[in-house]
Amino acid sequence: MLTGKTAIITGGSRGIGAAIAEKFASLGANIAVLYAGSRQAAEEVCGRCAQSYGVKALPYQCDVADFQATKETVAQIRADFGTVHILVNNAGITRDGLVAMMKEEDFDAVLNTNLKGAFHMIRHCAGLFLRNREGCIINIASVSGLIGNAGQCNYAASKAGLIGLTKSVARELAAKGIRCNAIAPGFIATDMTGDQQENPLLKQIPLGRMGEAADVAEAAAYLATAGYVTGEVLRVDGGIAM
Ligand code: NAI
Repeated sequence: MLTGKTAIITGGSRGIGAAIAEKFASLGANIAVLYAGSRQAAEEVCGRCAQSYGVKALPYQCDVADFQATKETVAQIRADFGTVHILVNNAGITRDGLVAMMKEEDFDAVLNTNLKGAFHMIRHCAGLFLRNREGCIINIASVSGLIGNAGQCNYAASKAGLIGLTKSVARELAAKGIRCNAIAPGFIATDMTGDQQENPLLKQIPLGRMGEAADVAEAAAYLATAGYVTGEVLRVDGGIAM
């Protein structure tokens, strides 16, 4: 159970992030949802968390790629909730393209959100975790970061970087009671992946189906409570990257 804990979930207004927010709320955690665009979607997720599970759940608009904005948002969350125990770096974007034609701005945008965004959030939450002598960080990476993916050099680099960040932070903060792990999802049915029914890669998934956001949320719940697990990269991919 996560009763009495406060969890930040970036990009928690839809898809995998929303599923993690609701799963953690079902385990008793209070929830801070960071969102980029749709306040209505973030409010709906928070409303479901509060009404179904009786926890405190509040939305915060924040671009994770913005160092100052993340600093101010974490400070506001601290003021609203008292402290933070769990950070899920889930916010992510794709700007796919072939490397020979990729625009610099598309490379930068993906690195700034997916990798630097996670650094910003860890940077601003670390002081709270150190003070509490307790903390749990879960970074949502991707199988692209493990095995690469043609047409996704920016995205794969950001996710591979996130895995390096995860292991370094895990080593640095373990002695202070702070764990840091990553999840590497495969094909998960969300707005990001869209309609994949005709994608030939689906036939290569050993478990024979796309994943659901709830599959990733289950893994996040495990890592949130697995007190002896740190520096791990947990694939939730139906076996595609084994
Ligand atoms: P999604 O596109 O449905 O949701 C992404 C969320 O991140 C949205 O709520 C969006 O508003 C938020 N976001 C984007 N940029 C942001 C920013 N700068 N600041 C704050 N929030 C921002 O995507 P989905 O599928 O739920 O993905 C969630 C995470 O899982 C991402 O990191 C993605 O890379 C990763 N992932 C997804 C896979 C999939 O098949 N759907 C596979 C592997 C990894």
